[in-house]
Amino acid sequence: MTDISQLESDLAARVDAAADVAALEAVRVAALGKSGQVSELLKSLGAMSPDQRRAQGPLINGLRDRLTARIAQRRAALDAAALDAELAAGRLDLSLPASTRRRGAVHPTMQVMDEMIAIFAEMGFAMAEGPDIEDDFHNFTALNFPPKHPAREMHDTFFLQADANGDRKVLRTHTSPVQVRVMQKTNQPPPAPWIASGQTPPIRVIVPGRTYRSDSDATHTPMFHQVEGLVIDRDIHMGHLKWTLDTFIARFFETSSVETRFRPHHFPFTEPSAEMDVRCDRSGGETKIGQGTDWMEILGCGMVHPNVLRNCGLDPDEWQGFAFGFGVDRLGSLKYGMPDLRDMFAADTRWLAHYGFSAYQTPNPATGLS
Ligand code: DAH
Repeated sequence: MTDISQLESDLAARVDAAADVAALEAVRVAALGKSGQVSELLKSLGAMSPDQRRAQGPLINGLRDRLTARIAQRRAALDAAALDAELAAGRLDLSLPASTRRRGAVHPTMQVMDEMIAIFAEMGFAMAEGPDIEDDFHNFTALNFPPKHPAREMHDTFFLQADANGDRKVLRTHTSPVQVRVMQKTNQPPPAPWIASGQTPPIRVIVPGRTYRSDSDATHTPMFHQVEGLVIDRDIHMGHLKWTLDTFIARFFETSSVETRFRPHHFPFTEPSAEMDVRCDRSGGETKIGQGTDWMEILGCGMVHPNVLRNCGLDPDEWQGFAFGFGVDRLGSLKYGMPDLRDMFAADTRWLAHYGFSAYQTPNPATGLS
């Protein structure tokens, strides 16, 4: 005969000693599970004589009830302790220092590009874009580069492998091919989705983009950025070109004292052509504007050549225009004093942390563009 009171004190001790919910469950199953010790006792009641059952029944049922209650109590205590532990572990310590976050920066070229777009937009220019991989026609032929002419070599062009017809595409050497795409579209459906539709003269567009030449020194990088400009209207002359560029330069450098000069030059796609330089001082390993005896070339420009107008389906007797192409990275290096253009694309995060801009500093002509 099982000693019920002994069994009860054993089981009670095991319930009290259960350190967690899993251990408690194991005790419960061992006592009250299908073939647990207490369940077996309950089953044995069936085989007893009525007298025995009358004596044993209340003892065994009492044991089951007290044990069940004790387990429930222990379970509540364990649950409360677990919750306390969880709350203690998840406590928010407001006195801890904030973790440092790496902050990105806007690359100076992108900042300068945005500033340029803001100024030209204010002057009434729309924006157009074209592909980085160009065909010979748009990059050279339509722009009045004669076939086999050495001028094609003057750009140190990156050629792609020839296709089955022997045609070699190029990484565009300048943004000028987009002039062609914009003018062509005047008489044709848009050749590609990046050209704004429905443009007929008068045209006033700027074209920001990447350009490529096989060239590398302090003022040249194999990939660089240009902002092209194109104005087509009636009775357009060189005076409009000079006013536009001078006005832009004064707005961009936020002073009218920046000295510029136009130098006669040659481009196949403009006649007459010029280059524009900005006076600066590059003697001390740093580029300073508004002083010194150096001149940095920042753009090429001119009156659009009649052949280019014709190549694009415009009648030169009716329409004239001017065009220009800025070197964006150079313009940025002048404004923000970066001595070597190659650093701009070296992907050195220390350089970017020094010269980069906060993403919150959006260009805005009303607040001085900074
Ligand atoms: N495409 C020329 C270059 O990359 C720059 C240029 C010169 C653009 C004269 C023009 C222009 O639109 O009219 O060197």
